[in-house]
Amino acid sequence: MIRFDQVSFSYPHGETTIKDLSFHIYKGDFVALIGANGAGKSTISRLCNGLLRPASGHIYLDGEDTCEVPTSRLARKVGFLFQNPDRQICENTVRDEIAFSMKVQGWPADKIKERVAEALETFSLKGEWFPFSRSRGERQRIALAGVLACEPKLLILDEPTTGLDYMECIHIMDYLTGLNRDKGITVLMVSHDMELVQDYAKRVLVLGSGTLLGDGPVNEIMKDEELLHRARVLPAQIPSLALRFGDRFADVYTIEEMYAAVKQG
Ligand SMILES: Nc1ncnc2c1ncn2[C@@H]1O[C@H](COP(=O)(O)OP(=O)(O)O)[C@@H](O)[C@H]1O
Ligand SMILES: [Mg+2]
Repeated sequence: MIRFDQVSFSYPHGETTIKDLSFHIYKGDFVALIGANGAGKSTISRLCNGLLRPASGHIYLDGEDTCEVPTSRLARKVGFLFQNPDRQICENTVRDEIAFSMKVQGWPADKIKERVAEALETFSLKGEWFPFSRSRGERQRIALAGVLACEPKLLILDEPTTGLDYMECIHIMDYLTGLNRDKGITVLMVSHDMELVQDYAKRVLVLGSGTLLGDGPVNEIMKDEELLHRARVLPAQIPSLALRFGDRFADVYTIEEMYAAVKQG
């Protein structure tokens, strides 16, 4: 779905932010990108959707080199949810907000109407609401509804659950898991919340100072304490505890598995 081939990038007057980075995210995967603050996670997500262009190397989206494709065409394939929904929202009603990207992309009016109605239902939103006077969780849902209405093949989420309470977070993540499972939408989620990563991602890319330190299945990465330490991120609590409990807990990653293992005695 998306492939980085020896990509480097620096901001003007800055040091090299991304250094000779290569990785491949396959169609239908659910990948978390983790790493300390300033490691380059947001930069990578902006490279994926063409907001930034690599200084050297190539990024292939769905087989097409992003340097040779106009950003408008990339936008059709890649949905991008900003960390802060207020940077995304620009219309005065929820209905117009959800329709906004579809209009920009030239969707037919009847199709837009249909998709907006579906989105309002799915995300429990009201079309006449004024987006900016809603709660943070609702604004996040409004922004996500607008992104998903365009049916992107790749969905990039930059810290998707910042500012959400626990239930809002689970609601959104479960919905995205369903989309990934049932519609094969590819998800790349930037997060420093290891519990969230453990619960939802299938595969993890570990980033440190613009280079890839690790890449593997979530259960493998979560128990690689040396790797997580090098990346300056804290492991999720249950896998980390399971490591301390020894061999009999080797297959424990979730609260349910921990409960079962402890009960067995
Ligand atoms: N717009 C920008 N201009 C200049 N430097 C930036 C800009 N955005 C980020 N950086 C720098 O690039 C590096 C990576 O930042 P970023 O991709 O935001 O990391 P992360 O999302 O992992 O916290 C940091 O050193 C940061 O200071
Ligand atoms: Mg960031």
